[in-house]
Amino acid sequence: MSSPAIEVCDLHKSYGTHDAVRGIDFSVARGEVFGLLGPNGAGKTTTVEILEGYRERTRGEVSVLGFDPGERPAELRVRVGIVLQAGGMYRFITVREAVAHWARLYPHPRDVEEVIAVAGLQDKAETRVRTLSGGQARRLDLALALVGDPELIFLDEPTTGFDPAARRAAWETIRSLRDLGKTVLLTTHYLDEAQELCDRVAIIKAGRILAIGRPQELGVGAATRVRVSWRDEEGRLQEREVEDPTALVHELTSAAVARGASVTELTVVRPSLEDVYLELTADAAASVTADPVPARA
Ligand SMILES: Nc1ncnc2c1ncn2[C@@H]1O[C@H](COP(=O)(O)OP(=O)(O)O)[C@@H](O)[C@H]1O
Ligand SMILES: [Mg+2]
Repeated sequence: MSSPAIEVCDLHKSYGTHDAVRGIDFSVARGEVFGLLGPNGAGKTTTVEILEGYRERTRGEVSVLGFDPGERPAELRVRVGIVLQAGGMYRFITVREAVAHWARLYPHPRDVEEVIAVAGLQDKAETRVRTLSGGQARRLDLALALVGDPELIFLDEPTTGFDPAARRAAWETIRSLRDLGKTVLLTTHYLDEAQELCDRVAIIKAGRILAIGRPQELGVGAATRVRVSWRDEEGRLQEREVEDPTALVHELTSAAVARGASVTELTVVRPSLEDVYLELTADAAASVTADPVPARA
């Protein structure tokens, strides 16, 4: 049982002439919470839906719990829970009826009331689905993904559109999945969500993985570079990135002292994971072709 829950090797997906996924590789260990982090259009949903068996890949190898999802094996369906980016199948029945109905599709469902509680919908069990708020409807999607007691759960943007309190509640739910030993693949465009929840993150943009690793590692790796900025004698803002700012700062300050002046607006900043993300995703087309960021395993 120590083989990875998910393995993706050189996955490509084209829609007509548009290459949405351009050769990505990653694997997710059993019990791991893995995040695909990237802006809209990055290829997150495409990747996840190929792993779910909802879309056909153009080429590459994928394995989910040892199966090829492209063959839509029946055994896989009952071992995997899915929250689609656009959920909401039921409208006129109550939350409890929806969860109970979905539970009957699985051989070993979890307790309906317990799942409603885990999703934070106790107060809404008797409420008709169509009257739920956006955040509550998303929590129902989560409940439906959990009720079959799957070992692997796909969550495509599980908190998009949530208010801050609902996001915190969803984060708690996702942490409880990890505590239950579940494997989770989630997509998000929120950096804080990836940082809070994920054991490892792949930053994806324009169908390519730009960096992969533990959130701290991605931050720490970037933090080996330091950004020094200052205003020069002509009043122009200057900026340099260096590994060790000591010599540069010495040069700037001693030159200024020799002139009897000071270095104005001198700052020395270590980039955060957020800076790394913005930097990687801002200009991916240029950086991917000209100066690829090495993937860190
Ligand atoms: N069914 C489709 N037909 C054509 N193009 C699509 C289809 N689905 C997605 N795309 C395109 O593929 C790219 C990746 O989309 P998607 O996987 O939904 O990204 P994400 O989930 O990261 O926002 C986008 O440019 C999108 O417009
Ligand atoms: Mg998407």
